[in-house]
Amino acid sequence: MKTLSVDIRKAEPRDADGIATVHHQAWAGAYSGIIPHKSLIGMLNRRGTKWWANAIGKAASILVVEIGGDIVGYATLGRNRSRDLDQGGEIYELYLKPEYQGVGIGTRLFKAARDKLSAHGLDGLVVWALEENTGAMAFYAGAGGRDVAEGVEIFEQKALKKVAFVWH
Ligand SMILES: CC(C)(COP(=O)(O)OP(=O)(O)OC[C@H]1O[C@@H](n2cnc3c(N)ncnc32)[C@H](O)[C@@H]1OP(=O)(O)O)[C@@H](O)C(=O)NCCC(=O)NCCS
Repeated sequence: MKTLSVDIRKAEPRDADGIATVHHQAWAGAYSGIIPHKSLIGMLNRRGTKWWANAIGKAASILVVEIGGDIVGYATLGRNRSRDLDQGGEIYELYLKPEYQGVGIGTRLFKAARDKLSAHGLDGLVVWALEENTGAMAFYAGAGGRDVAEGVEIFEQKALKKVAFVWH
């Protein structure tokens, strides 16, 4: 049997297509039935290969998970954007292809993202998740995050509650 290694590394321009595929599949899987259809389709369509190539080129901090030559997950991270929270870093997005969820890869990507933020001198971490995204809520609570703040995102007049998890 062939053993495939899990490689977590900084995104490179050649990863744009792979990240776009992960984004599409993971967001459709996580948010169908939560974010209203029209808004979700709009979000999926906006972020194709070109969008990701541009994001990688702009030196946005993006990590990818590569298994057997395929991109199966990504995370985006940087400075915490909420003035009300005093943590230095934030993981903006952390997504895996549906068939790679639930086998520990998210835990590894989360740790790599935290390590990268610390290496940049950003101590403390914030992650926001939609409350209806029960998988993500369980994941961040299981990873030791404390839910300390709430917010609201509006999509087509539907208000969705979001929760901030923090780590020190
Ligand atoms: C959320 C996500 C990143 C977690 O990564 P993962 O590799 O699936 O999670 P892991 O296998 O490392 O699981 C770690 C723990 O998280 C919890 N967990 C993860 N997914 C869960 C789910 N769908 N339901 C309930 N608990 C879950 C479990 O407690 C698990 O602990 P266990 O191994 O003791 O059971 C991944 O499932 C994903 O991409 N989901 C869809 C997109 C998404 O919601 N992203 C987050 C947006 S804020």
